[in-house]
Formats: sequence, C-alpha cells, structure tokens
Amino acid sequence: MSGYSAITGWGMSVPEKILTNADLERMVETSDEWITSRTGIKERHVAGPGESASTLSIAAARQALARAGIEGKDLGLIIVATVCADYPFPSTGNLVQHALGAQCPAFDMQAACSGFLYGLSTAHQFLANGSMKHILVIGVEVLSRVIDYTDRTTCVLFGDGAGAVVLSASDEPGGVLGFTMGSDGARPDLLWIPIGGSAEPVTEEGLRAHRQYVQMQGGEVFKFATRIMGTAMEEALDHAGMTAADMDLFIPHQANLRIIESASKRLNLPPEKVFVNIEKYGNTSAAAIPIALCEAIEQGRVYPGAHIGMVAFGAGLTWAAAVVKWTAPLRTREKVRDALPATAAIGS
Ligand code: UT7
Repeated sequence: MSGYSAITGWGMSVPEKILTNADLERMVETSDEWITSRTGIKERHVAGPGESASTLSIAAARQALARAGIEGKDLGLIIVATVCADYPFPSTGNLVQHALGAQCPAFDMQAACSGFLYGLSTAHQFLANGSMKHILVIGVEVLSRVIDYTDRTTCVLFGDGAGAVVLSASDEPGGVLGFTMGSDGARPDLLWIPIGGSAEPVTEEGLRAHRQYVQMQGGEVFKFATRIMGTAMEEALDHAGMTAADMDLFIPHQANLRIIESASKRLNLPPEKVFVNIEKYGNTSAAAIPIALCEAIEQGRVYPGAHIGMVAFGAGLTWAAAVVKWTAPLRTREKVRDALPATAAIGS
C-alpha cells in the first residue's frame, strides 16, 4: 500500500532567557553591527537551569499532539532529531515517550542541522507504506551547553529551541511529496565537537584546549551551504514533479541570512515567498525548520493547498530537502489553547 502523509499537528518551545547581540558585546570582542551584517541575527534564546533537549521537546510535542487532536498513546513512533541529547544514552526519544504516555518505539536521529528533514522523510516512509498512523518528529537543540562563549567565531551564531510536528497517514494526495537527503563525511572537522566521543575521550588537556565545544571552519561551511541549498531544494522539487516557481513558501535552514538570500536568488524566489526568523533565534540547528514552520503557520503564511519547500545543511556534512503540500485543516489558535493543558503556553 502506498498512501500519503499529512502534517496534522505542530508546536514549538524556546527557553525564556534571551541573549542579545548587546549581551555578546560584553562577553567577546564583537559588535551588533558585525553580527547583524554578517549573519542577520539580533538575539537568540538560551536554556536556563533545568532546561534540556527533553524538556523543550516535551513542551513542543504537547502542542503538536493537541493540534493533531491525538494523545501520546496514539503515536506509532517518536523521532527526535538532535545533537544535544540529554545524555549520551538513553535517547532523548525515550524520555519524551515516557513523558507523553506513549507506548511506541522512540529513537534519536543525528544529522545535525539536517536532522528534522531526515526525520520527516523517514517518518513519511512508515506512513506511506501503511505500517503506522501517527508519528511525532521533533527537532531540538540546546547548543548553548556546547558552545564556547569565549570563541566569537561560533558563540554569536547559535541558539536553543525545539519544534515538533505530528505526521499522520492520509488518503488525501498531499503531505510529503518529494524529498532528498545527502551526506559527505570527508571532512568531519569542518563542524564538530572533537572530544567526548569514542574516538577521543575527554581529557584534562582536551578540556583546557576547549575541544569539548563546537568548533567550525565557518568560511568552508558557508561555501558548501551556498552551493547545496539550491541544489538540494531543486532535487526534492524534481522528485515531486515540481519546480521552484511552484513553491508558495520556502522555509530554508536559518543559519545565516546571506546563505538564505543566496539560495533564494538561485531559486529565483521573491522575498515574500521566503520565510526568515533568524533575527530572533539564531541558528537552532535541527529545531530551526520546525520552529520556522510553526511561526509561518501562526502568521497565516501556510494554508490548505500551499506547497512548502524546506531545505537544510549542517555538520557531517549533511543536507536534506522536502516538499510538503499542506492538507491539514488549520485549527484556530483559540481552539488549540482550549485543547492544551493550562500550563503549556503556545510558542513558549
Ligand atoms: O548550520 C550550519 C552552521 N554553520 C554555518 O552555517 C556557518 C556558515 N558560515 C557563516 O555563516 C560565516 O562564515 C560566518 C558568519 C561564521 C563568518 O562570516 P564571514 O563573513 O565568513 O567572516 P570570516 O570568518 O571570513 O571573518 C571575517 C573577519 C575575521 O577577521 P579578520 O581575519 O578579517 O581580521 C574574523 O576574525 O571577522 C572576524 N570575526 C568576527 N568579528 C567580530 C569572526 N567572528 C567575529 C565576530 N565579531 N563574532
């Protein structure tokens, strides 16, 4: 059997604490002018004590379940895309599964910033082949825990947050119409955390050299990103039998405004078709696309019948793109608020 999948629920959660460019000016040798002109970022959310990948995931997931009108026990699978799991093991997916009262398998997916789209494409397979009805896909990062706040080349870029969707089996043509995924592991050092894994355990020497933190060769990643964003999006569109002109909304990975502009230019998209919220969140890696999707829905930029193109790139190197035709009836914000537990605020 080959059916369709539809996004029936969505939710997001970001920590309350905000780190502005002005705050960073007091921490490292940088300026609001440099950060804004080179990246488009003005502020980012950072986790406080007690917040983690699982707490943000659970908050976003509860909204997504409420919007889909289902409960944890209705889920067939939970996929959590993250490089910031609560623990090396067990998976953050396990923690989310328990908190939601789900009785299904759960696992973490590690494809860095491309993780959410890897997860969405994977979930689609189980729904299209008829083996499951509802799958929760979460993109979450708490990069502030692994960022070196003395390194100005990385600390200005990243932020924390989570976005979640419920992808459901559907008979209606739509949902994930095409996707692509890719990997090139020739240069893991372009963007990585060198120690703490099985290749190089944590040592005092490593800690002194700050090798427990994210390290990046920004220029190299920038060149790769400007090349791959357009190519990957075109490939997914091609699989869906579409061209860039057929997209009603383009949601690119929010890593750098200049990369977004370059991809939009390559795809010949006018600014009104391109979704950007990097100024508020910075680069939240696997969470960036689902957070952007939630905000696009809130702003009325997603509507039944709309074709949405999403594309990401990241550490690995990895890349992924997907084309989704929106088929879910949009429930109103008020209805969702009624459906949510009193303590779960929308978008927070
Ligand atoms: O999800 C994937 C994650 N990674 C990315 O998407 C990263 C992609 N790369 C980028 O976004 C850009 O390469 C950066 C924003 C990281 C850097 O921008 P750039 O235009 O490539 O700058 P650069 O690295 O060539 O640095 C230019 C100058 C250097 O000074 P000198 O050597 O010209 O004197 C840097 O030391 O800017 C300096 N610089 C800074 N100055 C002020 C680097 N970071 C900062 C900073 N504040 N935060």
